[in-house]
Amino acid sequence: MSLLDDFINFLNENLPKAPSFHPYYEEALAQMLKAGGKHFRAQLLLGTVNALRPELTQEAMRVALGLEMMHTYSLIHDDLPSMDNAALRRGKPTLHIMYDEVTAILAGDALNTHAFYEISRSNLSPEVRIKCVEILSQNAGANGMVLGQALDCFYENTDKKDIVAAKQRLGLTDKKLSLDELKFLHIHKTAKLIAASLKMAAVIAELSETECEKIYNIGLDLGLAFQIQDDIIDVISDENEAGKPVNNDTDKNSFTNLLGVKGAIESKNELIRRVEEDLRSLKAGIKDVIENLINKHLKG
Ligand code: IPE
Ligand code: IPE
Ligand code: MG
Ligand code: MG
Ligand code: MG
Repeated sequence: MSLLDDFINFLNENLPKAPSFHPYYEEALAQMLKAGGKHFRAQLLLGTVNALRPELTQEAMRVALGLEMMHTYSLIHDDLPSMDNAALRRGKPTLHIMYDEVTAILAGDALNTHAFYEISRSNLSPEVRIKCVEILSQNAGANGMVLGQALDCFYENTDKKDIVAAKQRLGLTDKKLSLDELKFLHIHKTAKLIAASLKMAAVIAELSETECEKIYNIGLDLGLAFQIQDDIIDVISDENEAGKPVNNDTDKNSFTNLLGVKGAIESKNELIRRVEEDLRSLKAGIKDVIENLINKHLKG
């Protein structure tokens, strides 16, 4: 059985439990986790641990689960009417469509918190657990993914009344972000969590601080390439293949809107080249894990 199969089994055996007399709250918590997705971040973490310290792979499962919960919360909130207003995710109706908006907001809140619960109860040393909590909170929270989402939603060309009013109050007109600003946005909303997946793996495998930083920086390039590919998917894929709405980014600051599909592909390929080059300086094994994931999800 592959590492991915192992992780999917572990995930399904460890769905959050919250029994009560609410008719569907507990089901809603598990719904998007069960729906699947690529498990790109969990595979990065587990593949890297497995390449460096295979005896710790099982122990790392809970950290990968926490990471997947954090990522899934971000998607549930990203799809809300006040954000990207999407009705489909991972080939399934989004939670606010299937249940109701309050439940979607709260299921996201719960998965965000539960991520740290899972990491805290993993079978790793207390030092490693604390470091993983620190890395995940720094990269997903106030100065990480959430900041990226705030910039994404504020600077989209929106007709949402509250944002229009806020921009008017500030005397701001809609503006197209510069390439540097767009990179900052994408690095925060997506690349930091992907880089954190690799850094947590490096910490679990007890690599030196220098090596942890090196792998984190490779993760930032990889993560930026991942978000550029996601922008490309929005233009060239279809709903069945993507499992989510496409052509949903027309009013967004995206790489394809700024550089065109061809320009976006070139930027992505340049980043992939850099990642592959930098991987040569890392311990053998990690290179194969990351290259396989690049070939599976970032090409085409
Ligand atoms: C989608 O992430 C949102 C981005 C940050 C690009 P994924 O493409 O990893 O979504 P799943 O987990 O496979 O559904
Ligand atoms: C979302 O980016 C990034 C998150 C932090 C959730 P997108 O809005 O592009 O993700 P998709 O395309 O809906 O999956
Ligand atoms: Mg979004
Ligand atoms: Mg979205
Ligand atoms: Mg997208």
